[in-house]
Amino acid sequence: MSQHEDIHPKGQLVIQTVAMPADTNAHGDIFGGWLVSHMDMGAGIAARHRARSRCVTVAIDSMTFIKRVLVGDTVCCYADILKVGRTSMQIQIEVWTNGLVEDKHKKVAEGVFTFVAIDDHGKPHPVDR
Ligand SMILES: CC(C)(COP(=O)(O)OP(=O)(O)OC[C@H]1O[C@@H](n2cnc3c(N)ncnc32)[C@H](O)[C@@H]1OP(=O)(O)O)[C@@H](O)C(=O)NCCC(=O)NCCS
Repeated sequence: MSQHEDIHPKGQLVIQTVAMPADTNAHGDIFGGWLVSHMDMGAGIAARHRARSRCVTVAIDSMTFIKRVLVGDTVCCYADILKVGRTSMQIQIEVWTNGLVEDKHKKVAEGVFTFVAIDDHGKPHPVDR
């Protein structure tokens, strides 16, 4: 079993949506940038929930596309907070899909994003305060 062949998602479900024809690349599969944007949003939801404030992405530490995503797939993003620093949080996001025809939950992408909690002036502030 490879490192990506997990059976269960890790973390909390933060986003669930359906991949639409408008989200495809030139080959008709789902565009990787669309997936990254959802992962960023999902990690941001986990970050703001943890810090109870605005949060911004400061880094994408890793990003792996494991399997292609098809139009009509249900796309689920799961967030797991790996580390909380003073003002930053490192969040792992896994993306799992369910196909319409083949109803099998499979991991299609994973990444680690770093967010920073910010105040109303855009300056970092402690996550725990
Ligand atoms: C995020 C931002 C507020 C950080 O400001 P800054 O003055 O660099 O802040 P600091 O140097 O005090 O770092 C704040 C925290 O971010 C972490 N950090 C900074 N750059 C980082 C990087 N490249 N990777 C990982 N962590 C980083 C620091 O380690 C620190 O963490 P800690 O407090 O838990 O120890 C600022 O860089 C920013 O506004 N960036 C743009 C964010 C944005 O617009 N994102 C959306 C992109 S479309």
